[in-house]
Amino acid sequence: MHRPLHNCCFAATYLAALILTLFTANAPRTVAFSFGGANSYYLYTFRTADQIQVLDAMQAAGFRTLRISIAAQGENQTGSNNYGVPDVEHPVGMYDDRILTMIDDLITRAFQRGIKLIITLHDRYSLGCWGNNAYVDKYNIPTTNACGYGGVEDNDLNAFYNNANAAADMDRRFTHIISHRHPGFSNRPWSAIPEAILGFDIQNEGQAHQRNGNIPNPNWICERAKKLKPQLSSGMLVLTGAGADVWDSVLSQHFACSSIDVVCVHSYMADDWSSKLPPVIQAAKQDGKRIIVEGFGATGWGSKAAGLQKQIDVFQNLGVPWMVWQVVKPNNYDNYEVFTDDTDSWSVLSSAARAAPGLGGAFVWPEFTGGSTKHPPPPKAAGKRPPPPKVASKRPPPPKVTSKPPPPTNNKCAKCNIPLCRGGCKCDNNCDCRPGLGGATCDKCNLPQDQGGCVVVLPLGIRLVWVVLQLNLGISAKQGSF
Ligand SMILES: *[C@@H]1O[C@H](CO)[C@@H](O)[C@H](O)[C@H]1NC(C)=O
Repeated sequence: MHRPLHNCCFAATYLAALILTLFTANAPRTVAFSFGGANSYYLYTFRTADQIQVLDAMQAAGFRTLRISIAAQGENQTGSNNYGVPDVEHPVGMYDDRILTMIDDLITRAFQRGIKLIITLHDRYSLGCWGNNAYVDKYNIPTTNACGYGGVEDNDLNAFYNNANAAADMDRRFTHIISHRHPGFSNRPWSAIPEAILGFDIQNEGQAHQRNGNIPNPNWICERAKKLKPQLSSGMLVLTGAGADVWDSVLSQHFACSSIDVVCVHSYMADDWSSKLPPVIQAAKQDGKRIIVEGFGATGWGSKAAGLQKQIDVFQNLGVPWMVWQVVKPNNYDNYEVFTDDTDSWSVLSSAARAAPGLGGAFVWPEFTGGSTKHPPPPKAAGKRPPPPKVASKRPPPPKVTSKPPPPTNNKCAKCNIPLCRGGCKCDNNCDCRPGLGGATCDKCNLPQDQGGCVVVLPLGIRLVWVVLQLNLGISAKQGSF
């Protein structure tokens, strides 16, 4: 009786020692870790000095990640004086690499500041809700001009997400993007720059805001991930890009998908996190996934700093990385946008981002803590770069100008239903900007309508409808300037 017990204990001790040895040998990879980061979805279109100012501020604040989105960008969004740029494909399958070349410079500058990029390969809100990209034309997607309202439900994406040709087009888009070579990193493709790019979001808030909360194809993200993952170098992650809320961010299909590394979560329901996040973390750990709270924020004069603090406290306690929506210059108190001049909010963000790595985390992030510590030398300065790679010589004509949107219906906001690239706002019924709805970039929310903003001044009555129509016409005509 004594003997077998001894054998058992010896075996157990040996096993424990072996495990300990393995862990010790791999120490950096097993350190649980967390971090703070920021969205700044069109930072690559900023003028150089502005972009550098934002990146310097992010570095000083201790942010480790920066998320951008590949989609057409209008110029001078929210007064940022940024350049406009068209999407990477128009029409579908005809690629225009100007946007990728802009992002090359951002990658270089972020890397020099120890900030890794998350690059979102496509934006759900380009599919006929806020924005209309080439897929809307090719696949006859029903669009809506009432994106922040009930009208979003008219933007029926069932057919799109269940169309094999559309999926194949999307996979080709993704391959084109990740194959883009960065002259500052030995001409390696984006798919093989793990030191500067954390990974790729399949789609920003894919399938969000469908009728009755329908998810047209819950396997769509996983199917795209299966095509994408084998093309990436090790150490580069496939991220989902989340839904618009916790529930549609955490589809069981994402957790069951072997090609997805990170299940991203977005929500602007600040009170939800403390109850809804813990079970998500549990599920992720069970299924070998990781979680990033990739979109959250707070807004309002005097309430933004406290709103951010409250949410970040939850994330820090749980050890979940977080990325605020969004850091952008200029600061805007009335929106989900924040920059250094809101010193209260900025101090909340920077204290938390600096503290995060030391607090331990729910997950391991060898992309930050492990593997080789030998980073390649910083890439050459942007000014001395080799000529950009050749762009498809057959340039398509500029994107079609969408026909005049119908006058606003249930909303009473002069610009709310106009895409940002046409000078409009992205707001909800209260003219609150809603990044979860693809917004967060409205600079006119608190101006009366007769000053081009979104606040209803009732006595203006019918005259306003006329003004709205004029604005729509004028702005539509201006849109062709890409
Ligand atoms: C950019 O936007 C800001 C604020 O919306 C405005 O004041 C400024 O005139 C615009 N600049 C240009 C060049 O249009």
